[in-house]
Amino acid sequence: MRILVLGSGAREHAIITSLLSEPTAHEITAAPGNAGIAAVVPVVALDPTRGDVVSAYALDNDIELVVIGPEAPLVAGVADALRQRGIAVFGPGKAAAALEGSKTFAKRIMDDAGVPTGKATRAGTIDEAVAAIDEYGAPYVVKADGLAAGKGVLVTEDRDAAVAHADFWLAHGAVLVEEFLSGQEVSLFLLSDGHTVLPLSPAQDYKRVFDGDQGPNTGGMGAYSPLPWLPEGFVDEVINTVAIPTVRQLASERTPFIGLLYCGLIVTPKGVKVIEFNARFGDPETQVVLPRLKTPLSQLLFAAASGELASQPRPEFSDDVAVTVVLASEGYPEEPVTGRPITGLSDVHDVTIAHAATALVDGTYVATGGRVLSVVATGHTFSEARARVYLALDAIHLEGGHYRRDIGLRVSE
Ligand code: AMP
Ligand code: GLY
Repeated sequence: MRILVLGSGAREHAIITSLLSEPTAHEITAAPGNAGIAAVVPVVALDPTRGDVVSAYALDNDIELVVIGPEAPLVAGVADALRQRGIAVFGPGKAAAALEGSKTFAKRIMDDAGVPTGKATRAGTIDEAVAAIDEYGAPYVVKADGLAAGKGVLVTEDRDAAVAHADFWLAHGAVLVEEFLSGQEVSLFLLSDGHTVLPLSPAQDYKRVFDGDQGPNTGGMGAYSPLPWLPEGFVDEVINTVAIPTVRQLASERTPFIGLLYCGLIVTPKGVKVIEFNARFGDPETQVVLPRLKTPLSQLLFAAASGELASQPRPEFSDDVAVTVVLASEGYPEEPVTGRPITGLSDVHDVTIAHAATALVDGTYVATGGRVLSVVATGHTFSEARARVYLALDAIHLEGGHYRRDIGLRVSE
């Protein structure tokens, strides 16, 4: 198949690695990609958020499937532009992508669909926000309504910080003040063709920057899959109480969700609740879910894009486990230092590297952003996979670079 993958992160590199590992060869192009992706497939320098530009490229190059990695093209309506021209695309249109692009929209859909989630209040003014902050009490949870590149959520015991966060994000739109939910977090990805859903294997992401879940939230510092501690029947419970009601609600509003429904869940003493939805594969969870996938990814994505998931069997996963750790630049997540060389990448073994923010300058990889790359390993046990990842990270050098040392530790003892 001729496949165009939009995006430039480690998630897209992992998607491409998975597509390339299939027994059937595909012609894959990435736009715009990154230095790691460019080492394995052709890349084209086009703006992935421009529906007209992406559609013209896809038509000119007989692309049979477009896979949209990041949220920005989804929220910009790139999937709509492609579908209007009859091109198969894995990724929801603008209206359904609001499930990620607007937290108040997501809450409204969940309310209407009867999906379990925490209580939340939308605030349009600082007075409303302060009233909600005091109503819910500590720990305080304050979220920007719109896309905020991982910076919109603050969970804190400090009331002044909660109020300041609300004040800052009110300048960009509404904020949501939420009830604090306590429990283990789970990321479950479901493929959706608008009607039928098929689950991938659960993963757990580490959102805080430092070991022991300290420091600010990030886009994600590492992940592992599967989650051996999940209760039996967990995935089916999420399908029945979360995914199907959500997909049906969106279909009933004539905004079908075609793509990846990312359910960010929390396992509370009162059952599973949704913390957030995303409208795309998660990063870094994709890096641990796809290496374990045995069913050809292209087959699943194409079936979802063509409304034919009902004819597909449930995706199968290997019994091996996977762990990924993100190498971040100095200063991430606040102010990452960029432009520094990354060395040692050719000295690593038994791991795959998913590049995120890298460029090749005079034959040397340099870091161009906060989350630089993900080191991924599989193994029979979490201890084995962790040992491989951390051995590789010892060999990779990025001045000031940092990574968490406790990814997957809780399941490997
Ligand atoms: P979000 O971007 O909505 O997933 O939020 C980022 C992170 O903040 C989540 O992964 C949780 O760790 C935390 N978080 C968000 N909402 C809540 C909540 N209502 N209660 C507790 N923690 C939360
Ligand atoms: N790892 C969280 C996300 O992809 O949003």
